[in-house]
Amino acid sequence: MKAVILVGGLGTRLRPLTCHTPKPMIPLVNQPFIEYLLERLRDQGIDEAILAVQYLADKFRESLGDGSRLGIKVHIMEEPEARGTAGAVKNVEHMLDGPTFVFNGDVMTDLDLSAMLSYHQERGSKLTIALTPVEDPTSFGLVETTKDGHIQRFVEKPRSDEVTTNMINAGTYIIEPDIFRYVPPNEYYMFERGLFPVILQTGDPMYGYPSRSYWTDIGKPHTYLDVHHDILIGKVKYKFRGEQIAERVWLEDGADIHNSAQIVGPVVLGAEVVIQRGARIIGPTVIGSRCVVGPDVTIENSVLWSDNIIEEGARLHSCVIGHGNKIGPNAQVTDRTVISDSCIVGSENRLERGIRLWPGTELQEKSVTF
Ligand code: GTP
Repeated sequence: MKAVILVGGLGTRLRPLTCHTPKPMIPLVNQPFIEYLLERLRDQGIDEAILAVQYLADKFRESLGDGSRLGIKVHIMEEPEARGTAGAVKNVEHMLDGPTFVFNGDVMTDLDLSAMLSYHQERGSKLTIALTPVEDPTSFGLVETTKDGHIQRFVEKPRSDEVTTNMINAGTYIIEPDIFRYVPPNEYYMFERGLFPVILQTGDPMYGYPSRSYWTDIGKPHTYLDVHHDILIGKVKYKFRGEQIAERVWLEDGADIHNSAQIVGPVVLGAEVVIQRGARIIGPTVIGSRCVVGPDVTIENSVLWSDNIIEEGARLHSCVIGHGNKIGPNAQVTDRTVISDSCIVGSENRLERGIRLWPGTELQEKSVTF
């Protein structure tokens, strides 16, 4: 069976992490998210994935090639310009030959795909949308269905007295390709504002598939940290790479950990990580390959990508650090701060309150304090 994965968006909410790395390629526990997604599809019987790419398209080609490394056939299809979510599927319509899964490339879920496919086929649906419950329906687009799942209405961010359901579109669809006759070719066209309202009018069968599977959109800084938290505490099924060396502590090859360092799981340490004297790593935390964590550094509830140098006495708490940064001695990076790539943070800076540093930013010592 085939799947189309939508990976052409700009990932603006996750900037600056997405300045050089398309959102579906950002690491999830030290592995590009798209690889995790492709492996999951492969394990659930999907043998061909069509990646609808646009923004930073070459990054996908370089990293995934034809998919043989991951055991799934990958086709990388680039749009001449951004076509929107439904327009992107229209662009690869000629490659589709039966019911096809469509995935947003930024959704982490352990949805049972074969159960969703049976549901779609039993109802003779032309388009089935996976639905997931949310706690606060007023900040989402809701999908109203009848008891047997037939979609009746889409309600965008209702007031609390207008809420009739807490089910939202979970960004996974099954489509019958002929439904794409309603999508204009070579145009920007979205599912939510374009195709769904048209199908409501034409009356073609469109169903919602409610599920309580794990679901989260990795596309915002706080959900990006939360999804790591959920994986590390075992809320989502996940196959960790490397060797488990202690209670919920995983280590990849070639790490060098000083015997006075303290590591309190859940923690994942990438290949060739160096942890120096007196450093404390407290989970949930992920440290990418080749990072060097200096003496007496504390890192807690954070995600570091590869090749970072964290110098003596620095404290990192609830932050995301991209690739190749240098954090100076006694600097404090806390409170959902996001540092992207190749930044230098001089000693004793205090970065907090969700500050975001764009690639290549250099801060002199003590230049940011609160
Ligand atoms: P934000 O800019 O932060 O909203 O992120 P986004 O546009 O990357 O993601 P959004 O949640 O809006 O889109 C859902 C999925 O569709 C993501 O996986 C995007 O990569 C993808 N997507 C959005 N627009 C396009 C497009 O024009 N073409 C293609 N191929 N994919 C798209």
